[in-house]
Amino acid sequence: MAKLKFISIIALALSLFKCGRTPSSSSNWNSFSGDKNIERKVDSVLNLMTLEEKIGQMSQFSANWSVTGPVMPDDFQPYLEKGLVGSIFNAVTVEGIRKMQEIAVEKTRLGIPILFAYDVIHGYKTIFPMPMGEACSWNLELIKRTAQIAAEEAASDGLHWTFAPMVDISRDPRWGRVMEGAGEDPFLGSAVAKARVEGFQGGTDWRSLKETNTVLACAKHFAAYGAAESGRDYNTAELSEHTLRNIYLPPYEAAKEANVATYMASFNDVNGIPATANKWLMSDILRGEWNFKGFVVSDYTGINELVPHGVAENDKHAAQLAVNAGTEMDMTGSTYIKYLKQLVEEEKVSEKTIDDATRRILEMKFLLGLFEDPYRYLDENRAKNTIQKPEFMQTARKAVAESAVLLKNDNNLLPIRKDSPKKVALIGAMMKDSINLNGEWQGRGDRNQPVSLFKGLQEVFRNSSVQFSYAQGCTLTEATSKSVNEAVTIAKNSDLILVALGEDFNWSGEAASLTDIRLHTAQRELLKALKQVGKPIALVIFSGRPLDLSWENENIDAILQAWFPGTQGGYGIADVIAGDYNPSGRLVMSFPRNVGQIPVYYNQKNTGRPVNFDNPQGDYRSKYEDSPITALYPFGYGLSYTTFSISDVKLDKTVMERGGKITITAKISNTGNTDGELVTQLYVRDLVGSVTRPVKELKGFQKTALKAGESKQIQFSLTEKDLEFYGIDMTRKAESGKFKLWVAQHSADNANELEFELK
Ligand code: NOJ
Repeated sequence: MAKLKFISIIALALSLFKCGRTPSSSSNWNSFSGDKNIERKVDSVLNLMTLEEKIGQMSQFSANWSVTGPVMPDDFQPYLEKGLVGSIFNAVTVEGIRKMQEIAVEKTRLGIPILFAYDVIHGYKTIFPMPMGEACSWNLELIKRTAQIAAEEAASDGLHWTFAPMVDISRDPRWGRVMEGAGEDPFLGSAVAKARVEGFQGGTDWRSLKETNTVLACAKHFAAYGAAESGRDYNTAELSEHTLRNIYLPPYEAAKEANVATYMASFNDVNGIPATANKWLMSDILRGEWNFKGFVVSDYTGINELVPHGVAENDKHAAQLAVNAGTEMDMTGSTYIKYLKQLVEEEKVSEKTIDDATRRILEMKFLLGLFEDPYRYLDENRAKNTIQKPEFMQTARKAVAESAVLLKNDNNLLPIRKDSPKKVALIGAMMKDSINLNGEWQGRGDRNQPVSLFKGLQEVFRNSSVQFSYAQGCTLTEATSKSVNEAVTIAKNSDLILVALGEDFNWSGEAASLTDIRLHTAQRELLKALKQVGKPIALVIFSGRPLDLSWENENIDAILQAWFPGTQGGYGIADVIAGDYNPSGRLVMSFPRNVGQIPVYYNQKNTGRPVNFDNPQGDYRSKYEDSPITALYPFGYGLSYTTFSISDVKLDKTVMERGGKITITAKISNTGNTDGELVTQLYVRDLVGSVTRPVKELKGFQKTALKAGESKQIQFSLTEKDLEFYGIDMTRKAESGKFKLWVAQHSADNANELEFELK
């Protein structure tokens, strides 16, 4: 029935098109697909629509089955029945989505299908490590694969569109949303953004959007949301245009290069104009410079928030500013549905603006195949056979192990060999925890499902000679003398203490900023008591952000950063602890020594009075009196159970001609007794620029498996394009002059330094 109605609408629309009726405004619309046939179809549908119906397409409502912001008072049912809803988010399950789609398709005048969206951030049902953790794998294939799986699960449950990837550069670990991105670096952030977009959308070709195992991606939050002052969520981003362009914008642009279908406007003010109303960002840069042809959705009530931002007098004014800036869809704010018609009548918004926005939204529905069959994603059996397939769970376990970063490992305390007759005391608030392991934004994940570390260890060490004992010791926020004493008692009777501590999942993610990023006092009390026991301690940390681990670094023998690892958390981390997987994770965000240093990031500027590291306390230098300026653990850092060396670094030439290329070769060796993987990192420094340049910039990386004792030759290349940046005139180009170059194991590794020149 619905399908029949559908076919008749399209037939009608196309016949009108053939009869020569054209859309109400003349179109200079450039479609996302560039396919003239699709453009014609879109225009034919547009031609049937009233102004109100078009505005309906620009309106998104939350089904409130999973609330991710302030609940809006508007019940959207009446809009739905009038065909005035373009998209719904937070509606889930094939059955639930079908009910709403049926109303749109069968009960409304035109029967235009709805676009269903959801926050599928790091998995839908199978939850993968939190995105920043996963980025620490530096494994782009893996990152792409987990996004693909998330898309496949979500699409099988009826969804068309995910609000991911989050590509905001984050330099401030107080900001709870650092967990959602790929860390502090624009180069790595861009590569990860591309991998995630391609994973969700099934590649870079718009035709793959029609597959029922892909979803539209949404690069967010455009722009500079991660630059929130003092790490306080939603706070102002005040930054120079060259920092914006050189540091913050590249991952959003990379998403465009991967052909992302949509963007989300960020909540924050960017240099005085909130992004949602920022024409320069939304129109001049996104559409003008980058040629983006999909559509932009606001963030949750982001349009209404233009009022408290103080740039709009009321919601109506806010709608005017947002739509004229280039924000095409209103997420749950009801400003468009309420005021756009009036604004068009008052000629404050042109009908062309409305037509173009509607076209962009309709086109996505065409590309998803919804006009052919609005129910094509709705198949209970497919959902049942897709969700949490064994292969997905295996990938999740691998992702957990690859995301973990070994921060310290004195005396090779880890791994715990399965054949050693060791007594291991398992202690800590996170040892038996499942509830927190999915972290924030767990899609449709089940908080009770993640495998606890305790369970993972039991499984991985089954039939081994290792003997475990257990005491909780403390909760995340409380240590009683009784609980601490129990832990101390079993610790005394052990050869090794394995402690799992960290954060509640609610302490990171949206609206979860902190001013103190140390382990909670209760947890540190427990650690101090255990330290008194005098046995070696290995600490596993589950957290949504880099913590201040200065005390732990001083006092604990081994530290493994496990992030929030998701469904298979306990298994993947136990694999690392047992040495079944040799840790290969490398940090994508620097760990500060204290909050006073924040923001601390590797690609900083030199200043006019840089610290002389041969005399770091030398006076009148850019330093602190009470702390080193360096990170505790820098970007790119992470240990392995083996050791590596990088040698014989050579350039094929020391002068790069314009349009030319330099090839860098290096010998990488596994110098230890265990097979492992090395992330070799290529950094450059542009010594003199028209604007000041970072002391180091990542320009390449490779993850290579090396058997114990094995060496391999690897190769990087650098072209003029790799050296480009936005200089004094805000154009992007490479400036002639000298560059330093390092092939390194992390951002503070200066062992292999060379120089070249760009002509
Ligand atoms: C607000 C968040 O900032 C955004 O990332 C998310 O996609 C929306 N809420 C929808 O849940």
